[in-house]
Amino acid sequence: MIIAIDGHSSCGKSTIARALARRLNISYVDSGAMYRAVALFCLKKGIDPMDPVHVVQALPGIHLKILPSLPVRIELNGEDVTDEIRNPEVSKWVSEVAAISEVRREMVRLQREFGHNNSLVMDGRDIGSVVFPEADFKFFVTAEPEIRARRRYRELQEKGIQVDYDEILSNLLHRDHLDSTRSDSPLVQTKEAILIDTSHLGFEEQLQLVLQYIQKS
Ligand code: DC
Repeated sequence: MIIAIDGHSSCGKSTIARALARRLNISYVDSGAMYRAVALFCLKKGIDPMDPVHVVQALPGIHLKILPSLPVRIELNGEDVTDEIRNPEVSKWVSEVAAISEVRREMVRLQREFGHNNSLVMDGRDIGSVVFPEADFKFFVTAEPEIRARRRYRELQEKGIQVDYDEILSNLLHRDHLDSTRSDSPLVQTKEAILIDTSHLGFEEQLQLVLQYIQKS
């Protein structure tokens, strides 16, 4: 079984996806983490994320491993980078890296390989539209930008990362724009995808809503 969950940044889709995977006892893959790991690699090596030629040249040296445990861990060239890929510098540049077709092609290949051998919930931007167009279930998750920014702000503060709310909001709007307007695999709600707006729903309500759709069919 493949469940595709796409949607905007910081709308809570990873939290729903993780909980769903746990509830259904299947794997969870956070595809955004893979793009983040590529961005992190570039930043560490001094490769400009805005320079597609050098990013693409770096690809053969990037080896990603998704450890399908819950909570999910991701390794970049043998090093656990699960926490590091969440830092604001990576968030700032990841959309640029994710807009490069060669990067997408490689990530999609890895994602499909994973889905070939496992029942899973995968979240991202193009999972229902490109990676698994034949997914058994497709959800499109969103929430109002200010609500998403506030949630993200609180999350980072709780982790002790000092951030500015306005900067988070503008970064989020910028990423929405890049993700939805890029030419390769832009974020879209496919016609089969069920819309879940989490703006005014608590986590348990969101999960129940998604589970209802799955159990109904
Ligand atoms: O979900 P996230 O914020 O961790 O995603 C990080 C970035 O990667 C975001 O800018 C969108 C991009 N992304 C993508 O283009 N396709 C995916 N399947 C997942 C994420």
